[in-house]
Amino acid sequence: MIKPVTGFSKLSKEEKIAWLSKTYLKDSPLSEDILRQYWNADTRLQQLHEEFTENTLSNFYLPFGIAPNFEINGKLYAIPMAIEESSVIAAASKAAKFWGTRGGFKVQVLNTTKVGQVHFLFKGDTAKLQTFFRQVKPMLLEGVAGITRNMEKRGGGVLDIELRDKTSLVPHYHQLHCKFETKDSMGANFINSCLERFAEIFKSAAEGFEDFNEEEKHPEVIMSILSNFVPECLVRAEVSCPVEDLDEDNSYDPNSFAEKFITAVRIAEVEPYRAVTHNKGIMNGIDAVVLATGNDFRAVEAGIHAYASRDGQYKSLTHASVKDGIFKFWMEIPLAVGTVGGLTNLHPLVKVALEILQKPTAPQLMEIIAVAGLAQNFAALRSLVTTGIQQGHMKMHLMNILNQQNATAGEKEELINYFKHHTVTHSGVVEQLEKLRQ
Ligand code: MEV
Repeated sequence: MIKPVTGFSKLSKEEKIAWLSKTYLKDSPLSEDILRQYWNADTRLQQLHEEFTENTLSNFYLPFGIAPNFEINGKLYAIPMAIEESSVIAAASKAAKFWGTRGGFKVQVLNTTKVGQVHFLFKGDTAKLQTFFRQVKPMLLEGVAGITRNMEKRGGGVLDIELRDKTSLVPHYHQLHCKFETKDSMGANFINSCLERFAEIFKSAAEGFEDFNEEEKHPEVIMSILSNFVPECLVRAEVSCPVEDLDEDNSYDPNSFAEKFITAVRIAEVEPYRAVTHNKGIMNGIDAVVLATGNDFRAVEAGIHAYASRDGQYKSLTHASVKDGIFKFWMEIPLAVGTVGGLTNLHPLVKVALEILQKPTAPQLMEIIAVAGLAQNFAALRSLVTTGIQQGHMKMHLMNILNQQNATAGEKEELINYFKHHTVTHSGVVEQLEKLRQ
């Protein structure tokens, strides 16, 4: 039986691997070798990666690719994407090329406000709490001056603090609902530091507030934390063109394509089973850029999905219409990302990604990420309502199947040529490979 390990974090990397190997890997030298194989030969770079987190044994690679030719607000970008799913980068590149000849992507940041909350219980007279809050608010703002100084120099800081009564939801529950501008940083540490300071000041000021009785003098702070729901940190991306320009290579009728496309979007607007998959396709583009630029994809995912259900039902993030012969396809999403701080000036590949993007500000990065999401959704829907998704997807997946079968370089070349003219299926590839090997 496996026993709990103590002091694991204090062991050296080799000792951790030895323990893991003995306990879970059946002393498999192969697994140990694989862990070591992924170490970087540059020991400084390896150490940097190990120090990003705890108990690091190895590195976990994802492909880092580029989708070129994205025209965004009249400027051409190559978008770096970190993603393992075959066909995502190809789909993004195809959509970029398609819209590049139809006016490009138009994007606009609508606002950049972030939110954090001090959640607390107050057992007492709400009117007295409100009076207290009005008195303490300037003290809260002054009390974080040491934390906000640098942020204010960059044009950011605390925008507002509101007292919110949530007692209808949880007995005695109130909030300090705080708004922040964090400029080019994602701002998580800044916001959380401000909130914890607010909580301290709030508690000690309450103790000295004469109108409060003994119980009211001790509001109980439950927690102080930023919110990853950022419906006021919004970006809008759009493409449009005359319906007749939707025709590509005479491969489909543009009018029926537009109609089918809009119906597909409409289905995702009303049917949660489809909406989740529809939005997952959008996240293929978004997460890949968020990851490549060293941002927190869990925060972005949580915020976007919450936004997709803001009306009480999970819905499509994108929308489409045809009006006066013009096809329009757009999306509005919340995105809290940064281009300074965090991993952005630590991770060498992230620095390269930001350089490829011409060192964007956070709002510019919001625009680029939104475009990657919209492009991905356009590409997916275009395939879905025309050829079906598997044709393109399996073509891109071919290399994975060949690698699973340990195909040589020569075999890969032969079969890639063969499958230019045949439908890719797993069994079809295995069969052709066997034929080739006989
Ligand atoms: C696959 O990763 C994404 C799609 O399923 C998205 C969609 O169905 O819209 C193709």
